[in-house]
Amino acid sequence: MRLSPRLRMVASLVRKGARVADIGTDHAYLPAYLVATGHCPSAVGSDVRDGPLMNAVANIAACGLSDQIRLLHSDGLDRLSPADADDFVFAGMGGTLIVELLERTPWITNADKRFIFQPMSHAELVRAFLLERGFRILEEQACFDECRPYIALCAQFDPGYRPHYRKSYIWMGELPRCGNEAASYYLTKQYVYLKQRADALERAALLPDEVSVLREILPDIEPYIRKKHKEGSV
Ligand SMILES: C[S@@+](CC[C@H](N)C(=O)[O-])C[C@H]1O[C@@H](n2cnc3c(N)ncnc32)[C@H](O)[C@@H]1O
Repeated sequence: MRLSPRLRMVASLVRKGARVADIGTDHAYLPAYLVATGHCPSAVGSDVRDGPLMNAVANIAACGLSDQIRLLHSDGLDRLSPADADDFVFAGMGGTLIVELLERTPWITNADKRFIFQPMSHAELVRAFLLERGFRILEEQACFDECRPYIALCAQFDPGYRPHYRKSYIWMGELPRCGNEAASYYLTKQYVYLKQRADALERAALLPDEVSVLREILPDIEPYIRKKHKEGSV
């Protein structure tokens, strides 16, 4: 079974042998791949819309996996419980929606459960939420899919974990540890966005407190960005 590089990256963060729940499953390619390859013994795929769920039913039946993959109509985690899976995936959604769905689910602070996120935007909101709530970000990955960079991260609640993070952490997470071209491309985009914002605010003499935070963050990101974007090298 073939999976896009983006979804393969997400799949690699799911623990081997874990029962997986894929929130916003759409076509159910991810759970089908994880079960068909034997990575996961069973899966739940959920979606808030009927159309995607109908595609998912057809795809799962075509793969002969209807006995191992259960499909569920659910808004976020509303109709799921911790008993349904070990690892919970949120892929292909914006960071704002991911945070909204997590915020209203009290049982996410179950230290046995792993959460895997592949935010299409605003990953910084997802990281900020996780850190505030006592989650440890275990790993991040980056890849190119059809020339676009994507990132994915996995996290687990850890009640005893209260490290001090620099302000830049929510913009970079564990991506510097990836050391690949996709991570560097992604961090460069973040850097350029933050720098342009700082420059524009400064020119307009607006929000000096935000400008000083941005000026503190930028040098932390700079070592990991593509060379031609580094200060003074253009
Ligand atoms: C862009 S698709 C991503 C599909 C797949 N997860 C992937 O990464 O390829 C987003 C899916 O999330 C579903 N979705 C959006 N909001 C949702 C919510 N609140 N709860 C569950 N699913 C949701 C949409 O219906 C859609 O099928």
